Amino acid sequence: MLSEKNKLNHSSLIGFDKNKAILLKQGEQESLAVSYPTRLPIAIASANGPYIYDENKRQYLDFLTGAGVLPLGHGHPLLKSVAKAQIDELVHALDFSTPAKRKFIDEHLSMLPESIRDQYKVQICAPTGADAVEAAVKLCKVHTGGSEIISFQGAYHGCTQGTLSLSSDRSMKIDIANIVEGSHFLPYSACHDCPLDLERASCKVNCAYFFEKSMSDTHSGYKKIAAVIMELVQGEGGVIPAEKEFVTRIAAQLKTEKIPLIIDEIQTGCGRTGTWYAFEQYGIAPDIIVASKALSGIGAPVAMIFYKKELEAFTPGKHIGTFRGNQIAFAAGAEFVRLAKQTDILSNVNEMGIQLKLGLQEISAKNTVIGDVRGLGLMLGMEIVEPHSKESSPILANYLQRKALELGLILEVGGRHNAVIRILPPLNISQKNVALAIEILDEAVARTVKQAEHLYGKEADVVTKVSKGAYKR
Ligand SMILES: Cc1ncc(COP(=O)(O)O)c(C=O)c1O
Repeated sequence: MLSEKNKLNHSSLIGFDKNKAILLKQGEQESLAVSYPTRLPIAIASANGPYIYDENKRQYLDFLTGAGVLPLGHGHPLLKSVAKAQIDELVHALDFSTPAKRKFIDEHLSMLPESIRDQYKVQICAPTGADAVEAAVKLCKVHTGGSEIISFQGAYHGCTQGTLSLSSDRSMKIDIANIVEGSHFLPYSACHDCPLDLERASCKVNCAYFFEKSMSDTHSGYKKIAAVIMELVQGEGGVIPAEKEFVTRIAAQLKTEKIPLIIDEIQTGCGRTGTWYAFEQYGIAPDIIVASKALSGIGAPVAMIFYKKELEAFTPGKHIGTFRGNQIAFAAGAEFVRLAKQTDILSNVNEMGIQLKLGLQEISAKNTVIGDVRGLGLMLGMEIVEPHSKESSPILANYLQRKALELGLILEVGGRHNAVIRILPPLNISQKNVALAIEILDEAVARTVKQAEHLYGKEADVVTKVSKGAYKR
């Protein structure tokens, strides 16, 4: 059970559940495309720092952080005051130069490694990550004259029709006609579930070999390749960090062949993995870095690409969008970078990342439903499995997510089989709240084990259950 001192404030759940009524109305008024409340059935009334409050005034520790857009939690006081002051000054300015925008660009450029910083220019895109991916891909197509883009199995790059064509989840696109042609998917270094079915001991990073071979094969089937796009930790794909050799070999091959490498840092960027950008841990200098989510620090939408100057190929208006001038995001984003430097936020990410991962590993060691704990920095995940067959279990992952919610911790579920518990705390999370999250997870996992025993029996005939299709992949 949770210790008394660590209990969140769940005392005010009195009588009528306001969440339920609001969720019902949401169902009537809004599209069926609404997704988060189907797994986390609450309505959010307010939020502060690492906490969210629902309509029943229940308090939750937020380890989802708006899908990674809130690196300092909700409503950081300094960012809020800068944003409020900016409202009085100027709010929208298309792509004109403004003081807030100049400061934002300077601050964010200053976070690139010094040795390569001067090689890059930026383009501020329309405010979603997907639009920045679109800009990156277009730039590569115009620059190279190529038509084909290589992506990876397990990738997620957005939901527009262009970015969907580069994302691997078949269920999201199987019934969408005419999405952009020319996308190819190669195996990613997902070692916990090797796409080439190799044991680690006999593996010579064959996924990198597969890539190299497909690039040189006269019968690969590709037309002219415009770019390769990659996440260094696949987020939506299930928190899968790429093997270093996989990445460096691909980067080296692309350099030789003069094919641009786009690294999608929309989720991994701004300190999430323990370096400002994840590519720093891989010793590569991407041709294009795509960033969005946490750039403003406060959740105000903004997206951009950093691209090597020699790629310059656009003419005025080649990639536009009305909302490229969000001055609130610019002002807050510049202040966020200043704060991140001043408070040495990366040290906190690394220290808390270790503490959290150790806690997850301890929980994993004494329970049968956790198949793998993985991730970098404060981008962590736990693969939830059926205890006997060790098959990924969306049913148990969903159950665990619900139990954590009931105990006051908001988590996301993702991954190929919807069986990965995704953990994305604020980057300034305290030791006390990491300890609390571990305690809640410990309890939620214990309850999930009980549920697994209830569903499948302690020594159940798993084959029978699998054949019923209850949770098999
Ligand atoms: C790696 C990655 N790329 C692209 C996107 C798309 O960003 P947006 O939802 O802002 O369009 C996401 C969103 O989760 C992402 O994680």
